[in-house]
Amino acid sequence: MTQPNAAAPSASDPGFPVEEYRQDFPILSRTVRDKPLVYLDNAATSQKPQQVIDALDDYYHDYNSNIHRGVHTLSELATDKYETSRGKVKDFINAASDKEIIFVRGTTEGINLIAQSYGRSNLRAGDEIILSEMEHHSNIVPWQLLCEQTGAILKVIPINDAGELSMDEYKNLLNERTRIVSVAHISNALGTVNPVKEITDLAHAANAVVILDGAQAAPHTQVDVRALNCDFYAFSGHKLFGPTGIGVLYGKQALLEDMPPHHGGGDMIKMVTFEKTLYNDLPYKFEAGTPYIAGVIGLGEAIDYINNIGIDRIGNYEHELLQYATEAAATVTGLKLIGVAKDKASILSFVVHGIHPHDLGTILDHDGIAIRSGHHCAMPVMERFKIPATARASFAFYNTIEEIDKLITGIDKAKRIFK
Ligand code: ALA
Repeated sequence: MTQPNAAAPSASDPGFPVEEYRQDFPILSRTVRDKPLVYLDNAATSQKPQQVIDALDDYYHDYNSNIHRGVHTLSELATDKYETSRGKVKDFINAASDKEIIFVRGTTEGINLIAQSYGRSNLRAGDEIILSEMEHHSNIVPWQLLCEQTGAILKVIPINDAGELSMDEYKNLLNERTRIVSVAHISNALGTVNPVKEITDLAHAANAVVILDGAQAAPHTQVDVRALNCDFYAFSGHKLFGPTGIGVLYGKQALLEDMPPHHGGGDMIKMVTFEKTLYNDLPYKFEAGTPYIAGVIGLGEAIDYINNIGIDRIGNYEHELLQYATEAAATVTGLKLIGVAKDKASILSFVVHGIHPHDLGTILDHDGIAIRSGHHCAMPVMERFKIPATARASFAFYNTIEEIDKLITGIDKAKRIFK
């Protein structure tokens, strides 16, 4: 096996105590098939620190009750924790107000909410929606549903061989019929970091609203919705070291005020009669029914955890991991990276000649190494590169150089088996 001569991952941050952080994640000390777990599937979902697990446990153990509904002590405690988490999210993405933070189940629900609420009430036949060729299905299908309902039309920004958006094509697609531009901040299949500020500015010049799918960005890079000036931003808690089933939709207050609720029920109303219902103020207008209270509290804890390390330090450390992995992958004959954009984060997608990604994933699993293989819910990307699937290793700040070495050793082993 060949190994690259890349610098140690902590070269620019020698104090990055990865081993210490790993202790916070109980699952990282388990074995899989009698081998230490090497978890490289963080883009699918990340692991949870004990602090987040404890926050969920504390809620159910100590103050489980409904929010916004009771004057009793437990309800007040739960409401306070729930709304405190909203404030943490607001600060984390630098939103202007708590009213702009809507708790949803995840990125997918956030994008569907915009399509069905903003989209259905604002788009007409012939209006255009611009997406990109690298979108996750959750940023394609909600818009196709909207197109069926309204007669709007999808336009797609192509990607080049490196997996970067063609900005010239994007500029050509923008016109007076463009109403919505919805793109990934970071691609889950390629790792490309898109120039989302430039995309947003160009869309605004054409009077279109901008939605950013931040599922892969929020865990790895600073998100500042006011600096980006996007109109909506969606991300998931479970990729951000928080619980599954909880996510965030940010929207500019003025837009959210004008949008109709997407769900009706408790908590989203001020007054109900059979003749007429008055909707609640933001953000509650979009939070019908009892929400995932423990999940919101757990997400707040995850944000505290990230803030304690610092998202910029996390991003820098992961960048060095990705660089090391990219150089290591280049030494493996027959391995081809899919997605070699200049600006990339935390994702290494690849194919190995003669080995189907699923077979590679299975062989790696025998050594305790978890990667994802498949189309990554981004089938148009696979079509673009004329491949059925890729193998994808995706990194978090608790991964190490040694784990990347194990990945490369595992790939070499698979090559020997398939020779
Ligand atoms: N969207 C997640 C992924 O890329 C599930 O794996």
